[in-house]
Amino acid sequence: MASNVSITPWEAEAFVDYDKLIKVFGTKPLTDEDLKLVESIVGEVHFMLRRKVFYSHRDFDEFLRRYARGERVALYTGRGPSSHTHLGHILPWIFTKWLQDKLGLELFFQLTDDEKFWHEHRYKLEETNSMAYENALDIIALGFDPKKTHLIIDSEDIRYLYPIAIRVARKITVSTNKAVFGFTDSTNIGMMFYPSLQIAVCFLPSELYGEPTMVLIPAGIDQDPYWRIARDIAPSLGYPKPAQIHNKLLPGLGVGGKMSSSKPETAIYTVDDIETAKRKIMKAYTGGQPTAELQRKLGGNPDSCPVFKMMEMLLVEDDAFVRKHYERCRSGQILCGECKTIVAELVAKFLEEHKRRREQARDLLPRFLLRNKFDPPPIKR
Ligand code: TRP
Repeated sequence: MASNVSITPWEAEAFVDYDKLIKVFGTKPLTDEDLKLVESIVGEVHFMLRRKVFYSHRDFDEFLRRYARGERVALYTGRGPSSHTHLGHILPWIFTKWLQDKLGLELFFQLTDDEKFWHEHRYKLEETNSMAYENALDIIALGFDPKKTHLIIDSEDIRYLYPIAIRVARKITVSTNKAVFGFTDSTNIGMMFYPSLQIAVCFLPSELYGEPTMVLIPAGIDQDPYWRIARDIAPSLGYPKPAQIHNKLLPGLGVGGKMSSSKPETAIYTVDDIETAKRKIMKAYTGGQPTAELQRKLGGNPDSCPVFKMMEMLLVEDDAFVRKHYERCRSGQILCGECKTIVAELVAKFLEEHKRRREQARDLLPRFLLRNKFDPPPIKR
């Protein structure tokens, strides 16, 4: 893909070798044909698909065909609540909401307070649990349909997962766990069991609806190891294999790497106040030249600029606007300071609206909790 790309913002190489990930993980690149299928079924193509922000998949086409045939399908995604939500987390959720809106699908959203407690020893369980509720506010603020969106908080909703996880766990050996996740003899046994809980949600809709229900999981490609195991064991447990669609990770505002809570200065959190968020943008690393003179002469490099990527991958739907901005940067007509001001304003606008809705989300929360809407799946089936 990368070798024959022209200079368009959509296909230029990002900072990670995503083509290589496709090969290593054995997933499929999202093709123009796949996009045509989306167009024919959904009636439009989300900008994150057009720009290949979502770029790789397994059985996304099969999922769409099942939907088109009127078979029951559902969406599944999740979040490990180890920090407040930043814009990199929100990216796949915006796409997930689009799918829900367009296809009228139910969404199962797992918040893994247990995982983060087992994995990150600096946290108490009450901390990861309350962070799950904080993150839930951001999910709700994005406008998901409360009737069709079901939040699962692992530590409190285990009875929904456990009957499935029991069956999943028997299929996963310690040696598989070690090979797939890099676990060692000093990994705690909570983490050793955890994959069966993340995999269990793949099969939960089939149990709750009492009929085979394929799920589509929109998520970063880093979660792929779970789905490889899930797809291996699904047939023997009598479930459809889960489908996936993988997004590229939003770059952090520093030099290289994804937006990450381990580097708070490079991440924009939904709880950052507007001034803090703007300041982080204004201080960001860019693809610019060392001096204004050189920038005018040589142009900037938007393909490796996290500030441009924030506009392209997340904030601006309008293709013409993004393309023009890209060209003005490449040709040195716009300097980084001016560009940052534009993006800082876009971020401020997004955050203002999000914060307002986040406050309202507190009252809506009960309507989103799975436990308030479904009975746990029975052991006998
Ligand atoms: N393990 C994920 C994380 O650390 C959380 C998660 C659970 C998840 N289920 C998921 C992420 C499904 C994506 C899709 O963030």
